[in-house]
Amino acid sequence: MTITDLRAADTGRVEQVAVLLREAFQHIPAAWETLADARNEVGESFAPDRISRVALDDKGDAVGWVGGIPQYDGNVYELHPLAIKPSHQGRGIGRALVADLEEQARRRGAITVVLGSDDEFDGTNLSGQDLYPDIAAWITNIKNIRNHPYEFYQKCGYVIYGIVPDANGFGKPDIMMAKRVGEKRRNTHG
Ligand SMILES: CC(C)(COP(=O)(O)OP(=O)(O)OC[C@H]1O[C@@H](n2cnc3c(N)ncnc32)[C@H](O)[C@@H]1OP(=O)(O)O)[C@@H](O)C(=O)NCCC(=O)NCCS
Repeated sequence: MTITDLRAADTGRVEQVAVLLREAFQHIPAAWETLADARNEVGESFAPDRISRVALDDKGDAVGWVGGIPQYDGNVYELHPLAIKPSHQGRGIGRALVADLEEQARRRGAITVVLGSDDEFDGTNLSGQDLYPDIAAWITNIKNIRNHPYEFYQKCGYVIYGIVPDANGFGKPDIMMAKRVGEKRRNTHG
């Protein structure tokens, strides 16, 4: 398995990534409903300053994809999206793509990588709950019920820093996570 830049000119690979994006999120019907939606998402990853990295198998076919979007003048990158071809999940490719995205962000001067991991389908004990007023207590007491990926990200070193209640409708929150990837620089404040 190798990880490399996904480039707009690699039209065959771009199409493979659009297809695998829909396959990986097939359990979430609202995500990239059509192949055209998925193609648009991949196309947006080629914008300036964005990161778009693809994992390739031994034949050169795309088996995973991760994107990164700069925020806060590049101090922060948002990891979005991350998708591994279902037939290749559970083999360490997700962890490798996250580590690669962090390295790419760090090289561009980022200090932090953030991400949001939605819970739309009873993946955790947060689902269906009114999370106000003590959102911090819900963060402390989160439980994984149905293989929700927040635990995958914890294994990659991410911590939950917040929850957006009802992000996807009542009782369907977004779980916000972050990890430090850069060194403290002399010219930064604080
Ligand atoms: C979630 C996803 C990115 C993980 O990638 P992967 O290649 O299957 O995961 P890895 O093999 O690198 O797993 C690394 C570790 O995380 C664990 N892990 C992976 N997915 C997990 C999940 N859903 N829940 C809990 N733990 C998980 C693995 O067991 C492994 O643990 P270990 O090191 O103790 O053995 C991948 O399954 C996927 O694309 N899922 C569908 C799309 C998705 O949910 N994307 C993320 C949206 S925020």
